[in-house]
Amino acid sequence: MSNTNLKTPKKFLKVKNVNNNEIIPQYDVVRQDYTQKEKVLLGELRENLVDLAISSGENFQPDEEKLLNDIKNFLFARFTGDGEKISAEYLDKLSNKILRDLIGYGEIDSLIHDDDLEEIMINGIDKPVFVYHRKYGMMKTNVKFSDEKELMDLIDSIARQINRRIDQESPILDGRLADGSRINATIPPASADGPSLTIRKFKKDPLTIIDLIKSKTISVELAAFLWLCFDGLGVKSANAIISGGTSSGKTTTLNALCAFINPKERIITIEDTLELQIPHEHVIRMETKPANVENKGELTMNDLVKNSLRQRPDRIIVGEVRAGEAITLFTALNTGHSGFGTLHSNDARETITRLTNEPMSVPEIMIQAIDFIIMQNRIYTSTGVSYRRISEVAEVVGIEEGVVQLNKIFEWNPETDRIENVSISSKFLSQIANLSGNTINEIHREIENRETVLNHMVKHDIRDVDDVKTILDLYFKDSQKVLNRIMLGR
Ligand SMILES: Nc1ncnc2c1ncn2[C@@H]1O[C@H](COP(=O)(O)OP(=O)(O)O)[C@@H](O)[C@H]1O
Ligand SMILES: [Mg+2]
Repeated sequence: MSNTNLKTPKKFLKVKNVNNNEIIPQYDVVRQDYTQKEKVLLGELRENLVDLAISSGENFQPDEEKLLNDIKNFLFARFTGDGEKISAEYLDKLSNKILRDLIGYGEIDSLIHDDDLEEIMINGIDKPVFVYHRKYGMMKTNVKFSDEKELMDLIDSIARQINRRIDQESPILDGRLADGSRINATIPPASADGPSLTIRKFKKDPLTIIDLIKSKTISVELAAFLWLCFDGLGVKSANAIISGGTSSGKTTTLNALCAFINPKERIITIEDTLELQIPHEHVIRMETKPANVENKGELTMNDLVKNSLRQRPDRIIVGEVRAGEAITLFTALNTGHSGFGTLHSNDARETITRLTNEPMSVPEIMIQAIDFIIMQNRIYTSTGVSYRRISEVAEVVGIEEGVVQLNKIFEWNPETDRIENVSISSKFLSQIANLSGNTINEIHREIENRETVLNHMVKHDIRDVDDVKTILDLYFKDSQKVLNRIMLGR
């Protein structure tokens, strides 16, 4: 089902007061009231929908596209029946608005449909709803729930959508909406002052490696280096852990870097909630599942990592490594599979410490299976706007007297805001050179060629996930052809 024509028209949204002196800028949702006639029509449509829901039984799941069409036809028939002429634009706008009122998210519906919002935070009754805007940072909205029942209805309807429930006995709900957004709801006694709802919105148009280069999260040089290490010229592909704090952009960076995976690899992804959108043909996405009401049917990360070994994976990607699955993953990495994962930690050394201690308890000797630790950082500024940088890339070079040895290869310099190459050599590049029969100079030239390709995409704003993938695939098939084309300016 496509949602493309269901976007709230931009006219309904207005971001105000962004540059004034308010401590927290204001985000105003402009609501357009219905005319008397529109209200009557909305009422009739609502009755029709209720009838439809009753006749379809418990699992009523309206098909949005069909419903929108039905609404349009109904409105068109009613207006022309009354001898009124209506424009296609008005019909479109009114139908979408009615659709949202019928099956949407009520008060916060327009927030849910704004792709510029990262997060929506409802802290209770009679308090403003906050949003985190990609450009402006934390903002206060003019949306408020003044009625506890209204907020509980919203939370209940979200719980129903994902076939779960929230009540006094299990007052915390964690899950994913149909559009991929992650939600967390709490009610008393878990949240003392009443219900809360936090939505981390799924970005429909994912950030690609080109976006990350443009926003300086990664440098072209580092991206080209990782591109070569990840596809490994077909002889050896790198394993990497992306580490950082909450919301530092680990999953986003992982997702963007996955575009570099050799197109011939078979990928199994394993996540608590599906977030990764990897542009790859050969991929199976696995998701964990909590136990049901009878405490049965739980699927843990570890269950899924174990199972993935029976799925003939080339590469196993674990969304977030936290506990017992770590050792299963590292066993896989030590037996010839490749892997990626994200992990919560503050620096490369701490990443190792966390991996080798409870509850992950991976033996030091197994850690050597990782080639790179990529540190992702979120830097907050006094204006409330934050930015993300890859702050360090460390190579795991071996183990000496039981201590894992790290070699820093790239490091972000906060003074110049550049990611600098701080190492003379990389063990991994030497291995690729040996295995592929190239000199290390040839490998460096190849990295430079890839920089040329990435720079070309940046310059021509080729950033969309499919377009980026097309060029990377072309390069994989015939790199010289791509380079020639760029040289000839075509
Ligand atoms: N490099 C980036 N530039 C801009 N926004 C980003 C970047 N990385 C992540 N984000 C945004 O930040 C939010 C959190 O990112 P995510 O990758 O889920 O973080 P983490 O996995 O570290 O918790 C998402 O809404 C995402 O779109
Ligand atoms: Mg994450």
